[in-house]
Amino acid sequence: MIGVYYYPEQWPREDWEKDIRKMKSMGMHHVHMAEFAWIHMEPRDHEFDFDWLDCAVELVIQNEMDVILCTPTAALPIWLTENHPDVLMVKANGRVVQHGSRGHRCVNSPTFNMYAERITQILAKRYGTKERVIGWQIDNELGHYTDAPCYCQHCQNKFQEYLRSKYDSDIEQLNKAWAGDFWSQNYQQFEQIRLPNRETLVYFPNEHAQLDFLRFFSFSHTLFLERQARLLRKYIHPKAWITHNFMTNDPYVYPRHVKSGLDLFTLTNYPVAGVYKGKAGRQLHRIGDMIDLAFHQDYSRCHNGHWGVMEQQPGQVNWGPYNCRVYPGAVRLWLWAAIVHGAELLDTYRFRQPSSGAEQYHEGLLALDGETLSQGGREFKQVASELKQLQGLWEPLEFPQMPKAAILYDWSSLTAISLHPQSESFDVHQCWRRFYGALKRLGFQVDVICSNRDIHPTSYEVVVVACSDLIDDTTIGHWKNYVTQGGHLVVSPRVATRNLNGHFPKTEYGQRIADLVGAKCLGYDVMPKGHWGKIQRMSTQEIISWYSWAEQWQPSTQSTILASHKDQFYAGSCAAFRTSLGKGIVTLIGFDAQDGVESIMIESLQTSFPKLQEIPENCMYHTRGQLGVFLNFNDQPVEIPDFLIENQSLVIGKRLVGPADLSIWRLKSGFTDN
Ligand code: GAL
Repeated sequence: MIGVYYYPEQWPREDWEKDIRKMKSMGMHHVHMAEFAWIHMEPRDHEFDFDWLDCAVELVIQNEMDVILCTPTAALPIWLTENHPDVLMVKANGRVVQHGSRGHRCVNSPTFNMYAERITQILAKRYGTKERVIGWQIDNELGHYTDAPCYCQHCQNKFQEYLRSKYDSDIEQLNKAWAGDFWSQNYQQFEQIRLPNRETLVYFPNEHAQLDFLRFFSFSHTLFLERQARLLRKYIHPKAWITHNFMTNDPYVYPRHVKSGLDLFTLTNYPVAGVYKGKAGRQLHRIGDMIDLAFHQDYSRCHNGHWGVMEQQPGQVNWGPYNCRVYPGAVRLWLWAAIVHGAELLDTYRFRQPSSGAEQYHEGLLALDGETLSQGGREFKQVASELKQLQGLWEPLEFPQMPKAAILYDWSSLTAISLHPQSESFDVHQCWRRFYGALKRLGFQVDVICSNRDIHPTSYEVVVVACSDLIDDTTIGHWKNYVTQGGHLVVSPRVATRNLNGHFPKTEYGQRIADLVGAKCLGYDVMPKGHWGKIQRMSTQEIISWYSWAEQWQPSTQSTILASHKDQFYAGSCAAFRTSLGKGIVTLIGFDAQDGVESIMIESLQTSFPKLQEIPENCMYHTRGQLGVFLNFNDQPVEIPDFLIENQSLVIGKRLVGPADLSIWRLKSGFTDN
């Protein structure tokens, strides 16, 4: 299902029919509308106008396409913010945000919720029973971007309520969890607690209070989604699905906090927006970061098994630090990456590039003249036609012939480490992704899981726990069971050093996993900017430079040392090793460095699974249903190695895959031959 965003309210009515026909001619299956259009639906408080939307919906249906409708609550009408300023979020500096942009609602404001529920109910009643309205998106990209979190009075009151419930109305429990005895930080009543805000404090805020605040902030948003979803569900037809277009890279709203209501998980995906952090000097900033892209897709799939890309970047954007042109072919590459990672919906923001106003520089599928297809438009059209050509071959939704791995994504741990990295150079997400990247390099199908309860060697050959710091003893027990039963567990630095409250246990640093990894942690170190430590990889003698984090371990004599420290006063201590436990293996890589982590992890996994071979750098191979797809994220052509395409026949493309290009293969042995 491939479709496109359209904002009819932004274009003259005489253009609508032509635009919608054009979408149809490009192979679009659906049109996404009504996002941000609250003022057009309710120009004044309780005065409604849906003639325009009725007409747009009918035009789409007449052209035999489906409709996705949105609740418009991310862009409040002026009468609402003017009459009820308490619907507006408040920044850390205490300023109430103003009308004039978007994302300014506070989901904890009762007034906002009252108005949001009213407009959602009216929309759902009016369009919900139409069969061709197949899906609903609630709000847009919840959160307040980099201005999050919100510091308004409603949030403060709700935060106190949240804490009261979390700590059983017992302020002493909270004092204990927040370690209030130090610096006289104890509270006597919940009403005394303020939102922890660096702007209002002389020195840094209590980290446990901050973590609770961020959890509360995220929950507030996911509760808003659940309330809106329940309301929609009352009126829309049973086959229609409900979603929200998450920013999966947003640190403030954690999608997995959503417990119910969303049938389909969708994300917004902008790989080329001046955020590329990989190797410089080539064209990769125009093609995007393959590992980042794949991670968000694996993460989205693992929410509830049904996912899609709600906004696939169609070309140049307007909001990055620099907004360069996208490499020809990259949009198609991203779309195919999503398809093979299991996407059931592909959509793009937006159909036409606006000539003025917000996002004026943002490309669409049509160029500024409203007629010509942009480069992205041509690539969307091509994918629509390829999907038609290969109809059904990407079913069933399985990933045959790929080894399976799981990686734990523990939001509380990643957030807690971000709140206190202990070295400003330690980027917890960068560290985490090196471990994920090694799995992709070996062609694993990777599930991004958020609990280790059900891991078993029969479901996952490899399980990775990276930067999973806030961990209870039960989880360490699951890891041990997994390994003793024959699994291969990979452990990164900063694992299980603290409990779920973020407190250190009464052991030496890092000792809680000593039995699991068969080693004693001697400590960790970080370097000042511009200083480098040296670690030597045993198998190749290669020297790895590090500065952001490195642990020193003393493994048992049965372990195999993979790397050890070459300098500092702890030279000779171990930095990475593998060891056996029961029927399985643990690999621990206790340092973070741009080079070295991935190769050591690959080496250890290949020792356990000699059949695993490396996919060429910056390329991905993924199967889905009856297809195998090779994706080249390089700016140079790459020849597909034999081992990936044995017994397969070429369907689209060539074996020598061009820059930002792909080729599609038919799995001869069929999807059941796993
Ligand atoms: C997304 C957002 C869209 C649009 C787009 C521009 O993050 O959901 O509404 O602003 O960015 O790239």
